[in-house]
Amino acid sequence: MFDLIVRNATLPDGRTGVDIAAKDGRIAEIAPALGPAATEIDAAGRLVSPPFVDSHFHLDATLALGTEGVFNESGTLAEGIALWGRIAPKLTAENYRDRALRYIDLAVSKGLLAIRSHVDITDPRLIGAETLADIKREVAPYLDLQLVAFPQMGFFSRPDMADSVRRVLDMGFEVVGGIPHLEPTAEHGRASITALCEIAAERGAMVDMHCDENDDPNSRMIETLVWETKRLGLGGRVTGSHLTSMHSMDNFYAGRLVKMMADAGVHAILNPAANLHLQARFDTYPKRRGLARAPELMAAGATVAFAQDSVLDPWYPLGACDMLDMGWIAAHACHLTDRKGLRACFDAVTEAPAKIMELDGYGLAPGAWADMVVLAAADPIDALRLRAPRTHVIRRGRVIAETPLPAPRLSIKGRPETLERDIWAPSSL
Ligand code: FE2
Repeated sequence: MFDLIVRNATLPDGRTGVDIAAKDGRIAEIAPALGPAATEIDAAGRLVSPPFVDSHFHLDATLALGTEGVFNESGTLAEGIALWGRIAPKLTAENYRDRALRYIDLAVSKGLLAIRSHVDITDPRLIGAETLADIKREVAPYLDLQLVAFPQMGFFSRPDMADSVRRVLDMGFEVVGGIPHLEPTAEHGRASITALCEIAAERGAMVDMHCDENDDPNSRMIETLVWETKRLGLGGRVTGSHLTSMHSMDNFYAGRLVKMMADAGVHAILNPAANLHLQARFDTYPKRRGLARAPELMAAGATVAFAQDSVLDPWYPLGACDMLDMGWIAAHACHLTDRKGLRACFDAVTEAPAKIMELDGYGLAPGAWADMVVLAAADPIDALRLRAPRTHVIRRGRVIAETPLPAPRLSIKGRPETLERDIWAPSSL
């Protein structure tokens, strides 16, 4: 007797008509006609996917839009940082906690069950860091929260920043962050990468730096991050986030850089919505898109994820906590609209970020955690097309969120008031 079975599922790898059985929190078997189980869910041929993963987010700032009238009117990164610098020193533990937990509820409802959050450690009191370290433990039964020590105002914004990085690693943070392009000089930027990577190597932590988040073709902090990855033997554990300058680099250098990153095992995380909004604010026309070169990185064998970065905060005034939005926007903005590209966009919000975060037991396979999402879509490309509703969200073999599909009611002359056919059935899509 299994604990739970999801029947008649289509899997992201193309298998159809299979049942997924869970026992003791793990996937026990995937095959046709399994059973019985205490709880049974009929997927009716719809897509069942592993959970969505957001590998770049700012949980300490989310939902802070409107705090003391905060709204980024210029749409620039600089105004976002200035607004955050104004409100952050006044935020209380209760305020951090309230916003983070409200956001996490929304995330779970959307099948987003793993988040890597950068946490600002500029203020030496570390109130946000302590609060999020507590929340990480509290939400662990339903969401994997991975925390990044992030000196938002720069590693050199105060002399004892290295001590704060080590302190938050002691609190359970797993990743060392940075923002080298924001340091006072390029030399400081490179020195910050060296110092932070050395702390990560000493403590066995991963690295994920905000890197070259500007429109300057000569912003090349990423090459130092690649070098330090190789020098310290950190390949596979280092990520360059944003990397928007790659959009504006000349093709010769960008081609060389793509190969260097892939060869060194440096991952790339793009934030398509936030950076389409923030970048090229000083362009007239044509306006650059300001996204790293995802198709080229993917072709070179680098691991590429798409992430949200922000939802309703001083940087970005929109966002719906939906990872399918990120895949959908990136598909357009990066010209990933051939079949292989669209499929890669789905992987970039599921498998790829799970790999970057080194999530244990992720995926739909016997022995993995019984974590999955039933989507009202026929397949991964269809899920992107529709930003499909998530009817069931399952964690450790238990349904933790359900969204019933509403039957549409029509008021069109001569048409039935309620559609009898199931518009969300794969055959209708
Ligand atoms: Fe960010």
